[in-house]
Amino acid sequence: MKGIVLAGGKGTRLRPLTYTGAKQLVPVANKPVLFYALEDLVEAGVRDIAIVVPGDFQMGREQIIAAVGDGHRFGARVTYIEQDAPRGLAHGVSICRDFVGDEKFVVFLGDNFIREGIAGQVQAFRDGAMNAVLLLYRVPQPQGLGIAVVQDGRVVELQEKPAVPKSDLAIVGIYLLDRHFFQAAAGLQPSARGELEMTDALSRLLELGYDLRPHIVQGYWIDTGKHIDMLDANRLILDTIETRIEGDVDEQSKVYGRVALEPGARLVCSVVRGPAIIGRDAVIMDTFIGPFTSIGDRCRISGSELEHSIVLEDSVVADIGTRIEDSLIGRNVQLRRSEAKPRGHKLLLGDNSEVGLA
Ligand code: TTP
Repeated sequence: MKGIVLAGGKGTRLRPLTYTGAKQLVPVANKPVLFYALEDLVEAGVRDIAIVVPGDFQMGREQIIAAVGDGHRFGARVTYIEQDAPRGLAHGVSICRDFVGDEKFVVFLGDNFIREGIAGQVQAFRDGAMNAVLLLYRVPQPQGLGIAVVQDGRVVELQEKPAVPKSDLAIVGIYLLDRHFFQAAAGLQPSARGELEMTDALSRLLELGYDLRPHIVQGYWIDTGKHIDMLDANRLILDTIETRIEGDVDEQSKVYGRVALEPGARLVCSVVRGPAIIGRDAVIMDTFIGPFTSIGDRCRISGSELEHSIVLEDSVVADIGTRIEDSLIGRNVQLRRSEAKPRGHKLLLGDNSEVGLA
């Protein structure tokens, strides 16, 4: 079986981070979200993987290639397929037709995340006679999502963002498909937002009489397309980490709960209350790091309090008087208290930044 990871897209909901980088490389517990997808695929025995990367319309292609390489460190063989424009999920899959050949395949959206992995489902699909397995997740508010209606163990209908949903089963961004998908996608027209929609292709599969089976995901599913979802994913992964102190904790510092302190990281006169992870060569000084926080490699945090937040590599947070929480701070950010007169917030923010000042 082959794997396709979709890592193109526009990433509008994660701007400004996606102006300079791929959203699939934003770290969850200090590991790019895309890596979890690759690991899930390899764990399921899917080693031949195409990653669909954006063409020039979007940042990120070179970063993804640099981060994943030929895939050998994941135990995979990775091929890159460039999508000329963000023409939709079904388009992203269609351009992998030659790569897939006649094999069954798994499509994994590069910003999606489930806890249980996919090994069991891949095995069942490999051995089964069905044409597709859709992973579904029970949600309280299905209105904004793609929805599947299930009857007698089969998927019988799909709805995209229905005003009146016929079920509470959202379609997760992981699809097990066979070659008939390409037949179904071939005749699709772009939707109102100009994309070839996955839900339309799957509905067409149903119309053509193919057999789609449901699998209801337990644990959790997160689509990390928005900043708050990133924080959720970070919280859930940090909840499973084990204590690992490989950096240096000075005598004035305290570590409570499960904390991973990577090699070269230093805690000086600071308190870290886990679950939390502090990246390589980061320096935490006179600071409180609260639960569900990931600090990236080489960050320097001093005189501040952070909780339930993600800080990407090489950023500086210094002497901030109020607690920073529920925040996603990019790479190389400088966040400092300023004593310069006149007093006031002095901001240099990229387009589409979001800041909530206390
Ligand atoms: P989405 O999050 O649905 O779309 P997007 O990346 O354009 O983001 P936004 O809605 O915030 O503008 O995409 C899900 C995944 O699929 C993500 O990893 C990007 C990828 N993708 C492609 O590879 N090609 C595409 O044409 C689209 C739309 C998405």
